[in-house]
Amino acid sequence: MKNPACFIASQTIIETAPLVPELRLYLATEITPIWQATETHLAELNIEPPFWAFAWPGSQLLARWILDHPETVRGKRVLDFACGGGLAGLACAQAGASEVLINDIDQLALEAAQLNASLNDLTLVPIEGDRIGSEPDVDLLLCGDVCYNQQMADRIIPWLRKCAEKMEVWMADPGRPYAPKEGIEILACATLPTTMELEGKTARETRLYRVLPL
Ligand SMILES: C[S@@+](CC[C@H](N)C(=O)[O-])C[C@H]1O[C@@H](n2cnc3c(N)ncnc32)[C@H](O)[C@@H]1O
Repeated sequence: MKNPACFIASQTIIETAPLVPELRLYLATEITPIWQATETHLAELNIEPPFWAFAWPGSQLLARWILDHPETVRGKRVLDFACGGGLAGLACAQAGASEVLINDIDQLALEAAQLNASLNDLTLVPIEGDRIGSEPDVDLLLCGDVCYNQQMADRIIPWLRKCAEKMEVWMADPGRPYAPKEGIEILACATLPTTMELEGKTARETRLYRVLPL
């Protein structure tokens, strides 16, 4: 892709997510052509589905909680893992985290998160590649909506529990069947508006919890 920033701007509008009116984002409308393309077509073009163009319930609840409880992140080093458009990380930067790292395997997500940071005069530090299994040098690891399939959940949950021995780990999940049901401590719950096109439902019960070590 020649110019990722132009591509992102051309596929999105500048909007805010329902739960987080404080932060502006490049967001897709539901009828964005790239989302309508079939998975096969996307795979042929070697393009990841544009997760980054949506504020998923996970990052919305994380961001809301963080903006309402800034003392929980102030002065801390944070990693927004699988950041998508980076909403949770942006909330940390806004709330006074000392440094906010973002990671996603999709390069376009990192680009989108950086554009979103610029929109809000905030700074995010991108980390490329698949970092599952590493030990992040942060105080707090955030992940929003990462248990959306079995394979992902099977890889991520043991790693998050290991990380939880060394740092705080918070996950926000909108009721995906593969998310952990035990070894968690609930911090917040909310019913978030969703769309039929993306979720097949108009709302999702979303929970924010601390992931506990084994
Ligand atoms: C449903 S989206 C959630 C995005 C964001 N956290 C939110 O809640 O709005 C899932 C994200 O996980 C990312 N992802 C998938 N596998 C990953 C991996 N191994 N490492 C980092 N990110 C990954 C995808 O690229 C995508 O951006």
